[in-house]
Amino acid sequence: MKNSHTIFSDFPYFAHGGDYNPDQWMHRYPEVLEEDLRLMNLANCNTFSLGIFSWMDYEPREDEFHFDWMRKILDNLHGQGSQVVLATPSGSKPAWLSKAYPEVCRVNEQGLRAHHHRRHNHCMTSPVYREKVAILNQKLAKEFGDHPAVKMWHLSNEYGGECHCDLCHRAFQDWLKNRYETLDELNHAWWSYFWSHRIGDWSEIDPRDESVDGMRLDWRRFVSHQTLDFMKAEIAALRAGTATQPVTTNMMGFYQGLDYWRFAEVVDVISDDAYPQWKNTAQDLNTAALLGCVHDMHRSMKQGKPWMLIESCPDAPQWQGTARLKRPGVYRNEMLQAVAHGADAIMYFQWRKGRGGSEKFHGAVVDHEGSENTRVFKQVSELGSTLQKLAPIVGTSTKSEVAVIMDWDSRWALECSQGPLIIKGENQYLTPILKSHRGFWENGVSTDVLESLGDFSGYRMVIAPQLYLLKPGVAERLRRFVEDGGTLVLTYLSGVVGESNLCLREGFPGGGLRKLCGVWAEEIDYLYEGETQEIDFLPGNTLELKGRWQTGRTCERVHAEGAEILATFTHDFYAGSPALTCNAVGKGSVYYLAASMDTAFWKAFSQSLISNAKLSRILETELPEGVHIRERGDENKTYIFIQNFNNHSVEIDLGNLTGRCMETGLSVQGRLKLKGWHSRVLCKKRHSLPEE
Ligand code: GLA
Ligand code: ZN
Repeated sequence: MKNSHTIFSDFPYFAHGGDYNPDQWMHRYPEVLEEDLRLMNLANCNTFSLGIFSWMDYEPREDEFHFDWMRKILDNLHGQGSQVVLATPSGSKPAWLSKAYPEVCRVNEQGLRAHHHRRHNHCMTSPVYREKVAILNQKLAKEFGDHPAVKMWHLSNEYGGECHCDLCHRAFQDWLKNRYETLDELNHAWWSYFWSHRIGDWSEIDPRDESVDGMRLDWRRFVSHQTLDFMKAEIAALRAGTATQPVTTNMMGFYQGLDYWRFAEVVDVISDDAYPQWKNTAQDLNTAALLGCVHDMHRSMKQGKPWMLIESCPDAPQWQGTARLKRPGVYRNEMLQAVAHGADAIMYFQWRKGRGGSEKFHGAVVDHEGSENTRVFKQVSELGSTLQKLAPIVGTSTKSEVAVIMDWDSRWALECSQGPLIIKGENQYLTPILKSHRGFWENGVSTDVLESLGDFSGYRMVIAPQLYLLKPGVAERLRRFVEDGGTLVLTYLSGVVGESNLCLREGFPGGGLRKLCGVWAEEIDYLYEGETQEIDFLPGNTLELKGRWQTGRTCERVHAEGAEILATFTHDFYAGSPALTCNAVGKGSVYYLAASMDTAFWKAFSQSLISNAKLSRILETELPEGVHIRERGDENKTYIFIQNFNNHSVEIDLGNLTGRCMETGLSVQGRLKLKGWHSRVLCKKRHSLPEE
């Protein structure tokens, strides 16, 4: 079971390394490449991403190709024992290409075509760009597809952005024709009767019209689709060149512009770039919680298979405004958190700082000084040796009983609708997702992150905050999940619109959810800043929650239609109306939360849900604030990560958990002391097996 899940075949170790740009050095400083090999060994690094920005070195003039330089580097890396994730260089184009074919440069919303500059700015539709990329990708595959160092392909770099050139607009129109078939269908879907925006001819469609919310939503879908289509064309060219290695692409966490669920279906391995900004204040707990949620999504994207933290910073990225150094311990905790959440690769941007360019001050393993004597280098090397000790964890996964739902479609639809998002930072789609996920995380319960089209079977609880856009079939699948004994939690702003952002008509939550929840949300009240509501738990409620809790600025006036009322609002004209309800359906139950709530509430709420449903917690005892616990394992062993994200020491009551520290080999039980920003990884045999 284990080896089938390793990212790199025949490599039962953590991948450790990063973006390596020898092309910045080989022209004038070839000795640096030699030195790199020595330093890579000292840094305990074994995996490098190469060629991400190498187009100009492969093809310095149109149709003139050079590959020998890369072959030499690959040979050397292979000889030194490293493996390579070789990139397709489409993320940054050479100047000759922009000059010869101006259509490859993007056009902005004002209709201005970009001059040749920067990177990540090509048109995804341009046939010429696609052709040039395909030629190069195919050649790369032919040249290096059988090179023993090349273990994986890195597709482009951080796909993103949009283009408003004529080609893209026409492709959008074609995509719409395919989706709606007739203009009548399209006009209905977009409700373009409004303000006389009805489309009379496909060629009139211009996605920049902000007032047509259905069109704005479809434009986002199209941009995501077109980018995915571009990525598929990149893969096809590699395969045409007979490359057989798995492919990946570096995602950017919860990046708003692409529906990563669709990308996840196409790549073989999930990879993410993460650049958290730590402050060594209580705010870091939010950062850690956010990372935990993103990481859980990446693990869930391939049903629990390990993923790669393919870019991270061993120090401070120069672009974060304030490039504050990562304090001792912070870096190590950040990397081990990724491992705790299922990463089998810890890689950095960047291996070595360049002498020039906008990233010359971006943190790197090797500093300008160039030796192994820097603080950062030593830390990386130490983490490398820790990862060697943790090698038995590679290939293992996490079984979660809880899934939190995160849909790009719901997020986009909310963002494209005027009204629900008027409260900045409050109803932002991700906010309640993060808070609910954090509730379970803080209670030491493993959580997956799925999309609403995901497979709920195998879970015991599904939390779907602001399921604003209801996709076809989702309500029915949720009903089945509950009838079979699952617990479902829905919130305000659920089942508000259908596929094209048209409001559902049978009362919110619509599309079948009203009956499932046993509530009707008649009105939604957005409070002014500084205004507040309260919810009060009724005595003897099934969740055994007590007292009054302050709400955020979104509250719904809800009627119970069969659901049991657990808490009510206390203020204003809707004092006494339900704020939290529970509806028994089949063998399961559905909770409906009618107000936005803070993290403390979600922690208490999830704690009650956990005990009510008897979900398994990694540790039965209460964790000190800022201490987090995760587990990975296989049929024989469980690996438990205990991490302190506070500046101060903590003492953790391990209850009846005993394990062996993976680093020291010593047995750990009873009370565990953890210094600020320290982690422990324990190994424990499954109950049925005798202890070592
Ligand atoms: C992104 C890019 C890298 C580099 C880093 C810097 O993640 O993919 O090429 O620019 O940012 O943090
Ligand atoms: Zn374009």
